Parts: sequence; structure tokens; C-alpha cells
Amino acid sequence: PRILILGPPGAGKGTQSANLAEEYGVEHVTTGDALRANKDMDISDMDTEYDTPREYMEAGDLVPDAVVNAIVDEALSQADGFVLDGYPRNLDQAEELEGMTDLDVILSLDVSREELVDRLTGRRVCDDCGTNYHVEFNQPEEDGVCDECGGDLIQRDDDNEESVRNRLDVFDDNTAPVIDHYEDHDGFVAVDGEQTPDEVWSEIQDAVEAHT
Ligand code: AP5
Ligand code: ZN
Repeated sequence: PRILILGPPGAGKGTQSANLAEEYGVEHVTTGDALRANKDMDISDMDTEYDTPREYMEAGDLVPDAVVNAIVDEALSQADGFVLDGYPRNLDQAEELEGMTDLDVILSLDVSREELVDRLTGRRVCDDCGTNYHVEFNQPEEDGVCDECGGDLIQRDDDNEESVRNRLDVFDDNTAPVIDHYEDHDGFVAVDGEQTPDEVWSEIQDAVEAHT
């Protein structure tokens, strides 16, 4: 299946995308991870305000569309089924995506702002394999150590309170209209993202099975 997962920062897109990739054997295409792996690439020839993605990401601002569109176009052209996470983040990107592929299922995870701030400021990620944890809601067996691979757990540079609040404002201004835009699509399903991760996963599986 071709799945799009939408929702604000911290809604659980990465967590549930990992489940989708494993259960349905689809490629997890994530602009956030792709950009984090290429934080220092030189984008100055694209007429951007900063020379690398790093400055935008640390502040919680959007990286310029041209950079992100190219990443997604390349990744989707190589994937059969996919779960797309972190894109599109504004209406121009949504229009760009329409020229790249059709979608079977569009999941929209809904979570309140105060819960998002708690989730993001408490998130820890494995420096080696990227698995998500949380200091309260999702603790590893051993403090600071990844259950999956034994790697060190670190805090993302943009998970400080100031960047988190800016990311949520950027979402309200740019990405909320993208969700409205997809609401009329046949495959659109709104999911209550404030349930436990297992409950959210169960609703997502029902949605995927109903649309594929
Ligand atoms: P990106 O990496 O996409 O970050 P994001 O959208 O802010 O999303 P997150 O990864 O923070 O949250 P998530 O929804 O995946 O939640 P998670 O599962 O981790 O983007 C980063 C930056 O890259 C952007 O700011 C921008 O600069 C740039 N960028 C990326 N895409 C771009 C684009 N298209 N255009 C321009 N720029 C772009 O969960 C969060 C926490 O909550 C975890 O600790 C988790 O354990 C916990 N949790 C998950 N589910 C639950 C639950 N049900 N109950 C309790 N806790 C839960
Ligand atoms: Zn790990």
C-alpha cells in the first residue's frame, strides 16, 4: 500500500510508521530522518537563506521546498509500497506530491498541543538505530540504553522547549491546511493519537485494511 501519515510534531508519526513498515513490508520514507542524515549538505546553490539544512532544523523552521521535494521524489521513485512521514508540510509540497504518486490511505493523527509539548521535550532517540523512547511514557529497560541495539539514547537538537513551540506554530500555519486539503480524499482516516501507542496502532491497522 501507499500510505501517507499526517499530524503535528510529536503526534507519533515516526512511532507508528515503524509499525507500518514492519507489518506491511513498506518503505518508511521520512523527510525528517533524511534531512538529519544530511544536515550539513551544501544547499547554497538553491538560493536559500542558509547554506545547510541544520540552521532551519535547529530552529524548527521548514527547510526550503526545493530541497525536500527532491528528497521525496527520489525516495518514492525507488519504493513500491511506502509510508510517507513528514511530507507534505505545506500546500505547495502537497501539490508537488500529487505529481509524484497516488495514495491509498491517508492517516491523520490528532493530539492536543500540551500533550505534544510533553511528548517532544521528554523524547529520547537511539543514536544508532533511531528507535523512539520517552522519559515517562516509553522507557527503555536500562536507563539511557536502546532495547533494540544497545546504542546510546540522546535528545534531538530541536526537542528543546523553544524549538518545540516554534515547530507547533509552523505546523498550525503551514501544515494544518494540508490536512484540511486531504479530508475529502476517499482514503482519509482521522485517528485519535492521544490513546496508548498500542490502541493507536490497532486503529491504524483497521484503517489500512479498510482501504487496501
Ligand atoms: P521531523 O523529523 O519530521 O519532525 P516532526 O514532524 O516534528 O515529527 P517528530 O519526529 O518530532 O514527531 P513524530 O510525530 O514522529 O512523533 P514520535 O513518534 O517521535 O522534522 C524535523 C525537522 O525537519 C522540521 O522541523 C523541519 O525543519 C525539517 N523538515 C522535515 N520535513 C520537512 C518538510 N517536508 N519540509 C520542510 N522541512 C522539513 O513521538 C514523539 C514522542 O512521543 C516519542 O517520545 C514517543 O515515544 C512518544 N509517543 C508516541 N506515541 C505515543 C502515544 N500514543 N502516547 C504517549 N507517547 C507517545
Ligand atoms: Zn537502537
